[in-house]
Amino acid sequence: DPTSLQHLAPLHGVLMGKEIVENWKEVEQFQARPDDVYISTYPKAGTTWMSEIVDMIFCEGDQEKCRREAIYNRVPYLELRIPGSPSGVEQLQVAPSPRLVKTHLPIHLMPESIWDKNCKVIYVARNAKDVAVSYFFFHNMVKALPDPGPLDHFLNNYNKGNVSYGSWYDHVNGWWEKRQEYRILYLFYEDLKENPKREILKVLHFLEKEMSDSLVDKIVQHTSFQEMKNNEMVNYKTIPNEFLDQSETSFMRKGIAGDWKNHFTVAQNEIFDEEYNRQMAGKNLHFRTEI
Ligand code: PPS
Repeated sequence: DPTSLQHLAPLHGVLMGKEIVENWKEVEQFQARPDDVYISTYPKAGTTWMSEIVDMIFCEGDQEKCRREAIYNRVPYLELRIPGSPSGVEQLQVAPSPRLVKTHLPIHLMPESIWDKNCKVIYVARNAKDVAVSYFFFHNMVKALPDPGPLDHFLNNYNKGNVSYGSWYDHVNGWWEKRQEYRILYLFYEDLKENPKREILKVLHFLEKEMSDSLVDKIVQHTSFQEMKNNEMVNYKTIPNEFLDQSETSFMRKGIAGDWKNHFTVAQNEIFDEEYNRQMAGKNLHFRTEI
């Protein structure tokens, strides 16, 4: 399907943005530092949310400090160049430690140095249906992504892995299978939604940090969907419209679990379930599609 593949090219069996493929050497040779913290997700699974949580932890709950820069400069995007900024790798090379790093890479494409240095990774997974809906809207906002076509068409490509970053199934399963081999904290968007404080405490424990109860509450409040939607330093409003068009819908679009119900038809849902059950058969990895 030529329109869906426009702007994309395969990289070690995974479809990726052409720009990422062209600059891959720089990412492959990236030098990690032992105190780096990586925030990894399939696209639209809660990267920005977790990034703000971890930066708040690193800034000891100081909201003003967290407003020093847009989120994509505080937590550089490893494999991509955000328009108007140096590449993620270039930004990271000059960043002081400890560095926070955003990535959407499937686990087998992570630069080797990250495992050599035994770095910590926080992985956030979100249910396949809400990711599909969020990704569909995102495709309509981002000029560098292919035209998604109607939802039917997009869901078909998505379930086949014919989208940027490849298959959601391969991504969530790949990271799940290695979670005990490396220092990976595997979290779920739906759990964060249900009880953010409980999940933030897991992050603090994983990062070996302690914090007063009132500061944890402050982080919960500061990283709520409403707060983040109105915060220019995290809502991507600082990216020009020609790259990310937020006139019809926003990056901070809905922020709930179960929005797929407002977009899938009964028939689309049946087809999706069939595909889902086929691809997740025998996997010990379970998602909630509503909370
Ligand atoms: S990206 O472009 O892949 O980095 O996007 P990512 O940040 O991973 O995902 C964007 C979706 O996360 C929602 N979001 C939140 N939900 C709940 N609470 C908070 N604080 C929050 N921040 C971001 C955002 O709204 C996108 O989901 P949808 O379903 O489209 O609303």
